[in-house]
Amino acid sequence: MTAPTPLIAGNWKMNGLASSLGEAQAIAAGVAGGKARVAICPPAVLLERMSRALAGTEVLVGGQDAHGEDAGAFTGDVSAEMLADAGARLVILGHSERREAYHETDALVGKKVLAALRWGLEPIVCVGETLAQRQAGEALPVVIGQVRGSLPPELAGHLFSVAYEPVWAIGTGLTATVADIEEMHSAIRATLTDMFGASAALIPILYGGSVKPANAREILHAAEVGGALVGGASLKAADFLAIIHAL
Ligand code: PGA
Repeated sequence: MTAPTPLIAGNWKMNGLASSLGEAQAIAAGVAGGKARVAICPPAVLLERMSRALAGTEVLVGGQDAHGEDAGAFTGDVSAEMLADAGARLVILGHSERREAYHETDALVGKKVLAALRWGLEPIVCVGETLAQRQAGEALPVVIGQVRGSLPPELAGHLFSVAYEPVWAIGTGLTATVADIEEMHSAIRATLTDMFGASAALIPILYGGSVKPANAREILHAAEVGGALVGGASLKAADFLAIIHAL
């Protein structure tokens, strides 16, 4: 079984305006010849314009969330079909900021994954423990529980990735040690193999949490790390490209 093709995805969170499209184009201009698939996940209102701006480049665009239903009376929400209609090819689901701020449960994330599959979007499903959970020695069971609870069996045979993002490392400048990352990623790999069989070897397991040019090489070359989900450092083309080329 060969290794998964790495994926490096930028999560722009609630950042970016029409004036940021040039930054996305600068990223696209610099990725050629890289070893990873590259994606940018801008705010939903920028998706269509970004997918047009990046048409014909190697960079894919993705959403940051999708509702579990396809349409209906859900004020303020965006469906997977709408993301696909706007040009998205991937979607981040179950990000810890959404699990925390919107009380998203594993079951809800699983429902969103099914919605993504209905519309041909490649899910990036996020998992990760809080600092309190890590300090209590619960990091492994918490994350493995999220993997089991958030990934429905229907994912078998589809392209998707899992992003391990320790909550305490997101946007804080703190990163997990390589040993911690490798321990968690190999536990996630074992769980995926148990759930999906031998084909789980091809599922990229991304690391996320304060990935930056200075630490990208070490993280991206750690065992079982199949790419990165990058927040802050994906907003500047120079930083994001440095991460992409660290692979
Ligand atoms: P960060 O965010 O790189 O700014 O820590 C990562 C994420 O939340 O996906």
